[in-house]
Amino acid sequence: MDVSKACESRFSCRKYSREDVGNGLIEQCLECARLAPSALNKQPWKFYVTRGELKAQIAKQTQLFGANAFTDEAPVLVAVTVKPRLADKMADKIKHQDFSSIDLGIAVQSFCLKAAELGLGTCIIGWVNAKNVDKILGTSLGEKTKLVISLGYPACEQPPKRRKSTEEIAVYLS
Ligand SMILES: Cc1cc2nc3c(=O)[nH]c(=O)nc-3n(C[C@H](O)[C@H](O)[C@H](O)COP(=O)(O)O)c2cc1C
Repeated sequence: MDVSKACESRFSCRKYSREDVGNGLIEQCLECARLAPSALNKQPWKFYVTRGELKAQIAKQTQLFGANAFTDEAPVLVAVTVKPRLADKMADKIKHQDFSSIDLGIAVQSFCLKAAELGLGTCIIGWVNAKNVDKILGTSLGEKTKLVISLGYPACEQPPKRRKSTEEIAVYLS
């Protein structure tokens, strides 16, 4: 699948079949995430692939105020953490940029595009009680959950894309 096709076919999948996803497929998605660029090549991310009871506990942490009920159905939830170094945090303060979150977003998109190529559904979930997920995962000091990715075989059709036009988002200056 070429890049354009992957970008077109990835969508936020919120209905999954119960069928598990083999680790071989997940490893292919992780490999694409691993190759993602990051500021100063710090690669501040970690991907926790969860199933079963642990996954069920994390699903609950994505369901604040009744949101994201579909995470109960998804056979796999991947919690993504970052652990910025102190020097990075100081640099971020000076530059008013949060590079580790930018890094993580890029890696997560690479993961999701590869999943789309493999016929898997994903949804990037930011509505998460991150502190509780950290506790469930037992993350190390300074390591924080930022996003959760639901993963599984889609049990729904891709809805039409609703996007701004290129004219609205691009400015050509000369
Ligand atoms: C950082 C981020 C957080 C998101 N959080 C959620 C979420 O908590 N629940 C959800 O159902 N979708 C979530 N989404 C998915 C967006 O709603 C979705 O990407 C957007 O509506 C565009 O639809 P598409 O992904 O199907 O193209 C999130 C997406 C991003 C990038």
